[in-house]
Amino acid sequence: MAQSTTQIQITKVSESRINEVDWVNLPFGKVFSDHMLVMDYNNNEWSQPIITQFQNLSLTPATSVLHYGQTVFEGMKAYRNKKGEVSIFRAEENAKRFNQSAKRMCMPTIPTDLFVTYIKELVALDKNWIPTEEGHSLYIRPFMIATDPYVGIRPSASYKFMIFTCPVGKYYSEAVRVKIETEYTRAAHGGTGFAKAGGNYAASLYPAKIAQEQGYQQLIWTDAQEHKYIEEAGTMNVVFHIGNKIITPKSSDTILDGITRKSVMEIAKDWEYETEERKISVEEVITAIKNNELKEAFGAGTAATIAPIKTINYKGVDYDIPAGKSDLFSTKVLNYLNQYKLGKVEDKFNWILKF
Ligand code: COI
Repeated sequence: MAQSTTQIQITKVSESRINEVDWVNLPFGKVFSDHMLVMDYNNNEWSQPIITQFQNLSLTPATSVLHYGQTVFEGMKAYRNKKGEVSIFRAEENAKRFNQSAKRMCMPTIPTDLFVTYIKELVALDKNWIPTEEGHSLYIRPFMIATDPYVGIRPSASYKFMIFTCPVGKYYSEAVRVKIETEYTRAAHGGTGFAKAGGNYAASLYPAKIAQEQGYQQLIWTDAQEHKYIEEAGTMNVVFHIGNKIITPKSSDTILDGITRKSVMEIAKDWEYETEERKISVEEVITAIKNNELKEAFGAGTAATIAPIKTINYKGVDYDIPAGKSDLFSTKVLNYLNQYKLGKVEDKFNWILKF
């Protein structure tokens, strides 16, 4: 692992932009806090990180990420309770996943403890930007780009790692309608599906746009070989509640190893549901709907949190399913996670970084 340092050089903004924020109508991902962290990688080592004003980058048009997409990112959230305490959910997991993504994309890694320290320092500085309204949070976006000025295919030798934050409202404001995709493919075995690599998201835009034009907010991707097995939903993992079982597709190299998904499965086990992480065929889901055995389906992700699914479309047929009711597992787990992140229930799984 390349060297890095805990010492951060901090230059604070002379005047905050915080008073410009419309906290009541907070969109997702369009409002940016005062500061950002930047760290460069050259000659096989990371520079000292700096925290400075959130500002534009200056890059040569030859910057390799602009052409070949050598870039990875993460997403996590910070919360602030009424006492002013800040908590970040499972930050170490994001740090580990960031490095797994980086390795797959031939990029340098960052020691997980330093990754978490950088996040903490940046969030502490912009603590007042953390919304306190229910369902709102400070979304944290660490990412890394290849910065060699070179128009040729090879791993870059230089990189820029950055973190910025945005106060956000809900990603989905209501239960979603999803379409099971049986033509296009998100990820194939041996590819980059498990990584949070920019290209995975770029490749999903066209099929997702077609689905949106048909009235669906998201796709549920299926396997590349047969389009027979459920994978994930691009912005989130998917979970099904069939009979008394909470079932989610097993992580693989084609599915993002979601941290919210993992947490939901741990909570389900703790609440004594039967849980299964395994292959789920589309046929199994559709049969369960037809037999009234599918109690609910939902997405799980950092941005989306828990997103109930109200309609699943498969081969032109819409199947409506229960969503959003207070007695459903997804509603209970969402409420529990909201309380958990705000420190209103015991941190029994040791998931919270508090400061
Ligand atoms: C996240 O959940 O953090 C993601 O990166 C997914 C994206 C929809 C924002």
